[in-house]
Amino acid sequence: MKKRILTGDRTTGKLHLGHYVGSLQSRVKLQHDYDTFILMADIQALTTHFENPGLIHQSILDVAIDNLSVGLDPDVVTIVQQSAVPAIAELTIFYSMLVTVNTLRHNPTIKTEAANYGYDDMTYGFLGYPVSQTADITFCKAHLVPVGEDQAPHLELSRKIVRRFNDLYSPVLVEPQIMLSDCPRLVGLDGNAKMGKSLGNAIYLSDDRETVHKKVMNALTDKSRLQKTDPGHPEVCTVSAYHKAFNAGEYENVCEMCRKGAIGCVACKKNLSNVLNDMMDPFREKRAYYEEHLDEVKEIIHSGSRKAADIGNETVREVKEAMSVIV
Ligand code: TRP
Repeated sequence: MKKRILTGDRTTGKLHLGHYVGSLQSRVKLQHDYDTFILMADIQALTTHFENPGLIHQSILDVAIDNLSVGLDPDVVTIVQQSAVPAIAELTIFYSMLVTVNTLRHNPTIKTEAANYGYDDMTYGFLGYPVSQTADITFCKAHLVPVGEDQAPHLELSRKIVRRFNDLYSPVLVEPQIMLSDCPRLVGLDGNAKMGKSLGNAIYLSDDRETVHKKVMNALTDKSRLQKTDPGHPEVCTVSAYHKAFNAGEYENVCEMCRKGAIGCVACKKNLSNVLNDMMDPFREKRAYYEEHLDEVKEIIHSGSRKAADIGNETVREVKEAMSVIV
């Protein structure tokens, strides 16, 4: 039997290249070696976007198509809508007994996100989403979770909850392993430490050639470089970080030419824009197919969610039995 992967995305908008290097790329690589579940996390999306359910609804299809467009094969992976799996809600309640409020409060990712969203107080749902995320991962007893490094504190919590549950009751849950991408987090086009949907500095998987080109041409480079013969500093340049992530073969050479003042920023950006667009053309082709066949996409989500719901119900049964809540 193949080991299982579960990973997913919040449905709060379209996915971008940061998601691609952080997680989507490894999903595609691993889909034939692992029994892969991809979660459209619409309940988790509510924790920050509860006032905008229309966006969440639209994003379920967008995020599913983003995943399919980069090469996830719907005959091989299971695509799941979180809210269609009752077990996730049930497990969340049971696990919530095993986590203290202070533990959640000290979670560094929760803290950063709360600051980014400007929360001076947070909802119970937002504070507790790492508990719900533990239910996401454990309803299907996933072994491996490929995610970006910002998710590491959540995975640590998941592992703790699982160990605590298995120790206290009986060993029915699987302790999941994190799998970090070998590519570190992608900086934003504006030089911000992170490419983010809410930061306005992203290249979306759904951007057309022209849009990608324009965005790249506007990206922040080494500000001290006024003329193309000025020696550049790739270590402070956004464009060089993208060459590293998407054009690894030429990266060293690009940096050396930049340092020597042998290549100007415009040429360097054009090169990058071509590399990105060539990588994204096959994505665009697949996207065009799925956008033409939305009923097929919906059926992929519905059948995946039904399968996940059955698996989750079985896990809930075992969990209840372990906790002696069945009479
Ligand atoms: N929190 C993840 C993110 O913001 C999305 C997510 C929800 C997830 N449930 C998950 C990731 C389960 C891995 C496993 O990107």
